[in-house]
Amino acid sequence: MGQKVKAAVFPVAGRGTRFLPATKASPKEMLPIVDKPLIQYAVEEAIAAGATKLVFVTGASKRAIEDHFDTDAELEGALIAGGKDDLLASIRGIVPKGVSCIYIRQGEPLGLGHAVLCAKPAVGNEPFFVHLADDLIAGEPGCLAQMAEQYEGHGGSVIAVETVPHENTSSYGIVAVDEGDNNRITQIVEKPAPENAPSNSAVVGRYLLAPEIWDKLENIGEGAGGEIQLTDGIADLLGESAVYAYSFDGVRYDCGSKLGYLQATVAYGLDHPDTGEAFREHLDEVLKNS
Ligand code: G1P
Repeated sequence: MGQKVKAAVFPVAGRGTRFLPATKASPKEMLPIVDKPLIQYAVEEAIAAGATKLVFVTGASKRAIEDHFDTDAELEGALIAGGKDDLLASIRGIVPKGVSCIYIRQGEPLGLGHAVLCAKPAVGNEPFFVHLADDLIAGEPGCLAQMAEQYEGHGGSVIAVETVPHENTSSYGIVAVDEGDNNRITQIVEKPAPENAPSNSAVVGRYLLAPEIWDKLENIGEGAGGEIQLTDGIADLLGESAVYAYSFDGVRYDCGSKLGYLQATVAYGLDHPDTGEAFREHLDEVLKNS
């Protein structure tokens, strides 16, 4: 039913203040989990879901992201000369052939809805993914691929959700759904206080949006926190186009928070072929002595 989704939007203009001073001069999306920056996990997840057009909405101090996805002839030359084939493959394969990267500056930090709208000229009249790199999701297949499969089944738009403790609703977009209709969203609210939250089903940073969202984003005003909120654009879409909540299969790490970032590092470090075994022994030792 739904067509193939080719474009993925990565809003990466935010300053990452929760991670200062680490993010003073370098983007939060470049923080590594073991040996890859968060934004590379994001790009790999989108490519695995079929994306071939990667649209980065950037801002001040984000040049490192462009450099990361560009070829580095000098570094490649040095790795070739040193016979370091594995490392060469690891930097050459980051953006495969046939996938293009487009960079758009947000200009002013007016909110997530505004950031996504900045991608409109690059995406056009097609469905597209939005991926927030702070939310790292370990899952196989990846979360966006799972959502693309849902979309192929019923069309509309798809938003990934997860149950959160009721007292945390004010950190997320919160949805109410019609369980009898494929979890179609009936209400979505940005960061409600627990007493006003319609549920404790929280939006995580993965969206598959129909192009009808553009018109909505162009016409909403400031919402929660004085920002132009993606959630408000989606709320306006509910009446005319189906938006489904999807409980993904996988584990989410909030890498915008220090604790979530450390949890992700431990999980990915234990899983990594280069570090897993020795890291497990080390953690056992540390825990035994603590
Ligand atoms: C954004 C969205 C929010 C969503 C969250 C997921 O908030 O506005 O609806 O639940 O991402 O991570 P932020 O975390 O940027 O404040």
